[in-house]
Amino acid sequence: MTSIPTLEDLEAAFDGDLSGKRILVRTDFNVPLDNGEIVDDFRIRAALPTIEWLTDRGATVVTASHLGRPKGAPNPEFSMDRVRARLAELAPGVELRENLRFDPGETGNSPEFVAELIDGVDGYVNDAFGASHRAHASIVGPPQHVPSAMGRLLQKEVEVLLGLRNKPKHPFVAVLGGAKISDKLGVIEALLETVDSIIIGGAMCFTFFAAQGKPIGNSLFEPDMVDTCADLLAKAESMGKTIHLPDDITGTDAAGNFAQFGSRLGEGSIGYDIGPGSAAAFTDVIMDARMVFWNGPMGMFEDERFASGTRTVAQAMAETKAFTVVGGGDSAAALAQFRLDDEVDHVSTGGGASLELLENGDLPGLVALRPSAS
Ligand code: 3PG
Ligand code: MG
Repeated sequence: MTSIPTLEDLEAAFDGDLSGKRILVRTDFNVPLDNGEIVDDFRIRAALPTIEWLTDRGATVVTASHLGRPKGAPNPEFSMDRVRARLAELAPGVELRENLRFDPGETGNSPEFVAELIDGVDGYVNDAFGASHRAHASIVGPPQHVPSAMGRLLQKEVEVLLGLRNKPKHPFVAVLGGAKISDKLGVIEALLETVDSIIIGGAMCFTFFAAQGKPIGNSLFEPDMVDTCADLLAKAESMGKTIHLPDDITGTDAAGNFAQFGSRLGEGSIGYDIGPGSAAAFTDVIMDARMVFWNGPMGMFEDERFASGTRTVAQAMAETKAFTVVGGGDSAAALAQFRLDDEVDHVSTGGGASLELLENGDLPGLVALRPSAS
């Protein structure tokens, strides 16, 4: 694997002098918004080390990001105004282009849009780890035309996540949650090669329950993934790995009232969280690990009645002596909600990107930065 140029390599490409150079920095400022207000500016703050490194050297920094999923046309709901205002507080004088996805050329990776992006630009830095699994114009285009490098955030993310993949410390435990097994299938198969055990929570556990022939009431599950889950359970067993499933569930009964169940749910009941027994068992596994990767909540934690499974796992992540890494998205949001985000070793800024990097060991955005790629 040819190595990826760093900011120092970029500086060297300009004979050690970046002053007056216009550098396009692709950031992932796709922050959660509520009524137009930024709920969490984690991704903006995460880009500051790279931005400041460049401005300290006299470069003019132009940042660019997508926000939400506008459909290739301007849409005021997804304007960068709020993000621009926050960036101006954190990094005065740094430009931010309008939402990249207002142009269909971004997701379509059109040469015309790449040309527009690099117009008047001397160099390019990718610090958008969270978007580096997308082969979009702003991620893969500029490195073919101007001297390019990875920013500090991208560099750290790659180091930590590839460290899990290539230099695991055992016991290595993956904690996976969320609603859909179909989103996680590839990463589960890849993780089975390196981990000792996988803890499964969130609604995806019901597809595994269905594969075991257990009744799940009206709980969310993926009917077309039941056979796949049965195969995964068999495969894990043949590899000597453990898949830990919850053996109690919290949810609502047929009358819609809060209820605790074992691992068989009666007609009309719905599971929304792992139960306290499972949370305690999962805590033990996490406490005994030397490395833990967590992606996806254990239940519907936005509802306080169904937050305790996710909170218990978050507390175990904070307390274990293991090296702890949390994938972006919902699990990062859960950690922040419980104010435990400073208690783990690494919180990734990327949800899909961290899973894809663990699965494939590479990302389109990284491939594009390698000198051999152009
Ligand atoms: C994310 O929030 O996961 C990244 O910013 C990528 O966004 P996307 O899934 O809309 O490409
Ligand atoms: Mg720790």
